[in-house]
Amino acid sequence: MDLRRSRAAYARALDALPGGVNSPVRAFRRVGGEPVFFRSGRGSRCTDLDGNQYTDYCLSWGPLIHGHAPQPVVEAVRRAAVDGLSFGACHERELELAELVLAAFPGRRRLRAVSSGTEAVMTAVRIARAATGRDLVVKFDGGYHGHADGMLVKAGSGLATHAIADSAGVPRAVAATTVVAPFDDDAAIRGVFAELGRQIAAVVLEPLPANNGLLVQRPDWLRSVAALARRAGALLILDEVISGFRLRYGGYGSALGIDADLITLGKVIGGGMALGAVVGPAELMDRLAPDGAVYQAGTLSGNPLSMAAGIAALRSLRGDPPYERLERLGAHLQAAIARIGRGDVQVQRVGSIVWLYLAAGELPRRPGGVEPAAVDRFGAVHRPLLERGHYLPPSAYEVLFLSTAHTAAQVERLAADLDAVLKAEHSFVSER
Ligand SMILES: Cc1ncc(COP(=O)(O)O)c(C=O)c1O
Repeated sequence: MDLRRSRAAYARALDALPGGVNSPVRAFRRVGGEPVFFRSGRGSRCTDLDGNQYTDYCLSWGPLIHGHAPQPVVEAVRRAAVDGLSFGACHERELELAELVLAAFPGRRRLRAVSSGTEAVMTAVRIARAATGRDLVVKFDGGYHGHADGMLVKAGSGLATHAIADSAGVPRAVAATTVVAPFDDDAAIRGVFAELGRQIAAVVLEPLPANNGLLVQRPDWLRSVAALARRAGALLILDEVISGFRLRYGGYGSALGIDADLITLGKVIGGGMALGAVVGPAELMDRLAPDGAVYQAGTLSGNPLSMAAGIAALRSLRGDPPYERLERLGAHLQAAIARIGRGDVQVQRVGSIVWLYLAAGELPRRPGGVEPAAVDRFGAVHRPLLERGHYLPPSAYEVLFLSTAHTAAQVERLAADLDAVLKAEHSFVSER
């Protein structure tokens, strides 16, 4: 495989960008080799600078539920761009986006648009602190909620990948406002609330933790966390940046019967453009400025291009829901991988979110349960799969995403190539 142009670009990038990247997991540090530089993407396929083509299972880490450059989204963005890239003032597309999202969350009357999932979580936490008059926030070990200071305590993939427990540069006093509890542990979370309940402003929880592998939680455990929060007078912030609109039109938590106070969204609702959002009831959301005392703002918040992309993606998801098709495609991939017939090749999957877990034994529900051998083996298969035309996220802790543009034939090829690569595993493990 000729990667000369990607290599040259990476050499330039190492001069200009810290670590050669604008976001750490892109750097391929945990899977070895150098990152590929992309030139274009259409549907399920990407082309790199050297003209190599890949089936993309990273999909920009989840937003691209319709694949790359879907025509209705591109057309909507083009039309919006011609009308003005940004106003920093009110425009109608903000309303349509809000109405499309809010329609999926009965009882939630307000949406504040921001430019990333990080900002959405930051904003939700600030609202919760203002509403409760309390400071502490509970998160779970291995949950990732963006890179706001207080959330970088035992966070997910990027940090697990780089084996850093906490980010440098986070003031100790800020970290001390975060309480970390383990997933899937009834006694531990009960203990946290028994000890600190009256100081807890919010619990921040991904209903489907997907940032440290896919750590599927027991619905009764999720509901018990919600009940503990409610009893203590703390708010539940469901972080649906990944799961929102990816598994159904709306939130995943409500499908599990979890009643959240605030919901954070990102990824899919932006149709591939920069967009995050907080959704909640008027009595909480109206605490935001200008009506309330919680300050939050953004030069590009609600900008016309993100709104146009989000509207086009959401209209398409609502008008022609792809979720059953995506479920079938995910099941197809899972069955094809099961046919490899090895106990140490497993798939954890919910709909179109797929985690390749390359170890035997029980599928983990906590980060500590992830076998180091699985991480090593993923690192060993990543490059050979890349060379066979499959672009997987470059970390064993990250999930694969499927889009409406992917086909059964493509996922079968991925399974067949994974089988072939694993059979050759010894040779390339020793080469590395
Ligand atoms: C659950 C969750 N919350 C928040 C974020 C942060 O979103 P962003 O990267 O848009 O800031 C992510 C990003 O992967 C996420 O998966």
